[in-house]
Amino acid sequence: MRVETILVPDPGPGEAVVKVQACGVCHTDLHYKQGGISDDYPFLLGHEAAGVVESVGEGVTEVAPGDFVVLNWRAVCGRCRACLRGRPWYCFDTHNARQRMTLADGTELSPALGIGAFAEKTLVAAGQCTKVDPSVSPAVAGLLGCGVMAGIGAAINTGGVGRGDSVAVIGCGGVGDAAIAGANLAGAARIIAVDIDDRKLETARTMGATHTVNSKESDPVEAIRELTGGFGADVVIEAVGRPETYRQAFYARDLAGTVVLVGVPTPEMKLELPLLDVFGRGGSLKSSWYGDCLPSRDFPMLVDLHLQGRLPLEKFVTETIELTDVEAAFERMHHGDVLRSVVVLP
Ligand SMILES: NC(=O)c1ccc[n+]([C@@H]2O[C@H](COP(=O)([O-])OP(=O)(O)OC[C@H]3O[C@@H](n4cnc5c(N)ncnc54)[C@H](O)[C@@H]3O)[C@@H](O)[C@H]2O)c1
Ligand SMILES: [Zn+2]
Ligand SMILES: [Zn+2]
Repeated sequence: MRVETILVPDPGPGEAVVKVQACGVCHTDLHYKQGGISDDYPFLLGHEAAGVVESVGEGVTEVAPGDFVVLNWRAVCGRCRACLRGRPWYCFDTHNARQRMTLADGTELSPALGIGAFAEKTLVAAGQCTKVDPSVSPAVAGLLGCGVMAGIGAAINTGGVGRGDSVAVIGCGGVGDAAIAGANLAGAARIIAVDIDDRKLETARTMGATHTVNSKESDPVEAIRELTGGFGADVVIEAVGRPETYRQAFYARDLAGTVVLVGVPTPEMKLELPLLDVFGRGGSLKSSWYGDCLPSRDFPMLVDLHLQGRLPLEKFVTETIELTDVEAAFERMHHGDVLRSVVVLP
């Protein structure tokens, strides 16, 4: 990674330039860096960001200069089949800026998830800017732009967790912990956190886990059954992205329960399950992209709940860092030392 001077064009029709105030370091940025997402180097990394709209292009009405916004990677089109059916969180044609940001020599940059916010300013589609209450800390608000929203949404949108439910979350990194916080917010009666790292389980408790299981020390399926009267959990959220943890999730749920896969597998991973178990156990097996969120609906609501003290989003910010520290933050992420490092810009 290098810090470079970049050129950010003035916003064209439907675009906005945002002065970035904070941007979290997400696992997906590391995937980009390693070539796991595409070969369109050079990338402009960073996508969990909040900031202030600096200027807008022709025809932009949803935001204006001075607005405090969280950036999103689901600027829905309003016209595709999913949008027209009233399910815009499945939009097939989400918007990004049309113009490209470039290096000083004119080389075009590929912004991560169409955002690219490890920068003082970034150019996005206006629909990628979601206005929220400006009294929230930018470092906290920006995290809603990706991983934290993915976890909360996996619980409340995809999993449909409700009051009194039992929930198990396998993998308690930033995404899994957000799923725990989301389940807590939705009124789950029992929230079981599963991880292989005791430090992660300790943090999970502070997010609302009522029970913890170290799956290196005991069989998580048995443990979850024991903690749920022998039944299994109503909703099990897999936030690792591996076949063995998916299998645990599948068998740790109650009959007719729901499994939500929010962890992202790699292309070579395969899963084998007895089809009779898939049939016989009923319920639903779902996956969750970006927590099935609709930014315009979910971001302002979650910021408000946070400001009322009902959603401890500040706990996801392990440390604030400078733009030059991102490489070191990847290292700490790799060692499991942080939930989120957040770049704060002056
Ligand atoms: N679906 C989406 O829209 C979306 C969005 C963002 C991230 N993600 C994905 O969610 C996953 C989690 O992301 P994160 O930022 O929380 O990562 P992370 O690395 O911070 O957390 C992963 C956690 O899983 C634990 N773990 C690893 N192996 C385990 C095992 N066998 N059993 C139990 N726990 C285990 C680790 O100890 C760690 O606490 C990743 O796959 C990421 O790509 C999905
Ligand atoms: Zn659409
Ligand atoms: Zn992300």
